[in-house]
Amino acid sequence: MSISNPPHNSDEAKNIPEEMAGRRNLKTEASPEKADKASEISGTPILEVRDLCHRYPHLESNALDKINLKIFKGERVAVLGANGAGKSTLFKHLNGILRPLSGEVLVKGEKVTKKNVRMCREAVGIVFQDPDDQVLAPSVEEDIAFGPINMGLSREEVENRVKEALEMVGLTGFEERAPHHLSGGQKKLVAIAGILAMRPEVIVLDEPTAGLDPLSSARILELILKMNRELGITMLLSTHDVDVVPYFAERVFVLHHGRLEADGSPGDIFNDPELLRKAHLRLPRVAEVFEMLQQEGVNVSIQITAETARDEILRVIGSGQKTAGIE
Ligand SMILES: Nc1ncnc2c1ncn2[C@@H]1O[C@H](COP(=O)(O)OP(=O)(O)OP(=O)(O)O)[C@@H](O)[C@H]1O
Ligand SMILES: [Mg+2]
Repeated sequence: MSISNPPHNSDEAKNIPEEMAGRRNLKTEASPEKADKASEISGTPILEVRDLCHRYPHLESNALDKINLKIFKGERVAVLGANGAGKSTLFKHLNGILRPLSGEVLVKGEKVTKKNVRMCREAVGIVFQDPDDQVLAPSVEEDIAFGPINMGLSREEVENRVKEALEMVGLTGFEERAPHHLSGGQKKLVAIAGILAMRPEVIVLDEPTAGLDPLSSARILELILKMNRELGITMLLSTHDVDVVPYFAERVFVLHHGRLEADGSPGDIFNDPELLRKAHLRLPRVAEVFEMLQQEGVNVSIQITAETARDEILRVIGSGQKTAGIE
């Protein structure tokens, strides 16, 4: 694990367990884009941050301190960090909402400037932490149409995109509803649909599961995986929920006090207790059980998903039975 490591394409995020998937079967075939990814990750990053520093007015320390990172087309990346780590501040730089104190952000190899900020916002869509900052129109339909209309698309194309985006997020039939009468989870879906309708190449989601119940949270994760697999959209999300990360991310950045502390696969990150302690994070619950078993002297390796945990437990039971002479 290192800041310069190339991205991993682990299989860990392939299957969300039933309890996280709202009891829907999410087991999908190996992603067809996988073979392409290997060649793409050696090319120009779709998003790159170089020596990025940010300081809010009247504050003495930097909210972001020399951040360097690269994200490649088709990746699913999580930014993991405690409250105040700088996740939202980082995300607001990715399509020019905030301007760096120093350093730069590149979208598809082009530095974000005042001149090209429009292109950058079409390429990189951000779903804010609070949907009330984003979903503002009097009806769901108008809200989703706002971005495509601003892009200068024809009325017919706008209507198509609204319909498609509503279908993708599962809100067909909500066209006339007033967003302020929707639940928090539904508003999040409207915010995602609004971004989706602009057909960005990258979708950045700031804490997409925060404040949601387990079913809504699982639906959002399922949607994020679907947009990545079916539409090939590069996905970047922030969270402080360590339990969510193994089911979504192929790669994890750990942010702490505005600094990028690590860049690695979920397996790398969750096998580094010192890093987790330093960043005020913890192991996923599944992994905690394995840590306890190790402390009891059981020969297991730490697992971070329910599926691999089951396999490891079966392996240990199997070897125990063999030792006891049971076939
Ligand atoms: N508009 C602002 N003005 C001044 N300071 C700010 C502003 N926004 C954020 N900060 C500060 O910058 C730091 C990083 O905040 P940020 O919101 O980026 O963290 P975060 O990782 O998104 O946290 P959370 O998990 O709570 O959303 C914090 O110390 C915060 O107090
Ligand atoms: Mg935040």
